[in-house]
Amino acid sequence: MTSVDASPATGTALRFPPGFRWGTATAAYQIEGAAALDGRTPSIWDTFSHTPGKVLGGDTGDTAADHYHRMAEDVGLMKRLGVSDYRFSVAWPRVQPTGRGPAVQRGLDFYRRLVDALLEAGIRPVATLYHWDLPQELEDSGGWPCRDTAERFAEYAGLVAGALGDRVASWTTFNEPWCAAFLGYASGVHAPGRTEPEAALRAAHHFNLAHGLGVRALRAALPRSAEVSLTLNLHAVRSLTDSAADRDAARRIDAVGNRIFLDPVFHGRLPRDLVRDTAALTDWSFVRDGDLAAASEPIDWLGLNYYSPTVVAAAEPGPPGTEASPWPGAEGRVRFLPAPGPRTAMDWPVDADGLYELLTRLRDELPGVPLLITENGAAYADCPDARGAVHDPERIAYLRGHLASVHRAIEDGTDVRGYFVWSLLDNFEWAYGYSKRFGIVHVDFATQRRTPKDSARWYAEVIARGGLAP
Ligand code: FCB
Repeated sequence: MTSVDASPATGTALRFPPGFRWGTATAAYQIEGAAALDGRTPSIWDTFSHTPGKVLGGDTGDTAADHYHRMAEDVGLMKRLGVSDYRFSVAWPRVQPTGRGPAVQRGLDFYRRLVDALLEAGIRPVATLYHWDLPQELEDSGGWPCRDTAERFAEYAGLVAGALGDRVASWTTFNEPWCAAFLGYASGVHAPGRTEPEAALRAAHHFNLAHGLGVRALRAALPRSAEVSLTLNLHAVRSLTDSAADRDAARRIDAVGNRIFLDPVFHGRLPRDLVRDTAALTDWSFVRDGDLAAASEPIDWLGLNYYSPTVVAAAEPGPPGTEASPWPGAEGRVRFLPAPGPRTAMDWPVDADGLYELLTRLRDELPGVPLLITENGAAYADCPDARGAVHDPERIAYLRGHLASVHRAIEDGTDVRGYFVWSLLDNFEWAYGYSKRFGIVHVDFATQRRTPKDSARWYAEVIARGGLAP
């Protein structure tokens, strides 16, 4: 393999601790395709993507990266990368199509084959149970704002763990409940596309509850040695100035963006300021006795997904915005500002310090909780050259900068156990469809041809070296 390193020399090599887990991540709906095969029924994302105007270009996950049929090739790609871990998600409507009742063996068989191929390749499977694809039937009965969905999730978690627990030792209940609750039910830019702020707060609570009930179901079905975790997309919130008003704006976003999950899950309580901020929307009486105790079932590690920081200031007086906000309780009070500096194709600022800030905050606030970066990466407008090669120096620089931040956090006493690049493959990027490419492997969606980008070769070298070259 040729050596590729797009960043300026930093002088010293950055070695990661022995046993550090190097991985890649994907999600079922973004790569699998085979949407109607082997008993799978529609999820909220099938319905949403097939609704005109919801996804850019009218793209859907019907075929996606066809991973359902190309799984063996994709595991082969990872083997060549040398990853120790692979984080994938299980599609609920593939294994329990209506969200109730017995599991469909053909659906489970796909994941059995995947896991067997991974183990054969020496790669540790890390299974996420929910990466946003709720069976449509459960949404039709109320979705996440409805308490029953949390109970259904726990049952589903138990089914999958019962079927795969003999070969999967690392489990995650949810991926980014913030996005699922607030982009799905408040701003409506994600499935199921509802714009009901009170329902979004209910959904957030039911994610916490479902997480805790799911942890119990997993522990009951898995050997004691199995790891159980949760992945959050915590926001690195910065206030524009040190003024009391700007700091209060940051506090508000921290409450409804971060502590709404961290407090129930790690401390068994609701943030008081969140309850106050949202008092005009709800009295939180949907939180029942015992819910917060369930939500705070101990877990083995916390997964952190990080892409870019969030800069806020107090809102300026004026008429409220017309777009539905994903921040219940903060409407008309908080203004979001573009962070300075370079941007990715998502228009997200590149700022590796935000990752360091979050990691060291978690070090201080959650002592004893190991951390894994379960997603980090960047979209760029990658294009194969005449010879079919994909040069992506910006992605290499992004990954390198963020890995340096992780290394700095470890040096400063943070217990970070691993790092997973988002993503192995170019894929269906939710509301952006196929227009945004996050993969370190390029996918030509017309032919499904996979081409490792320069960043894939660079990542393989990082893994082989156990860190960053000087
Ligand atoms: C995260 C999602 C993941 C992917 C990246 C870019 O919010 O978990 O599926 O879309 O963003």
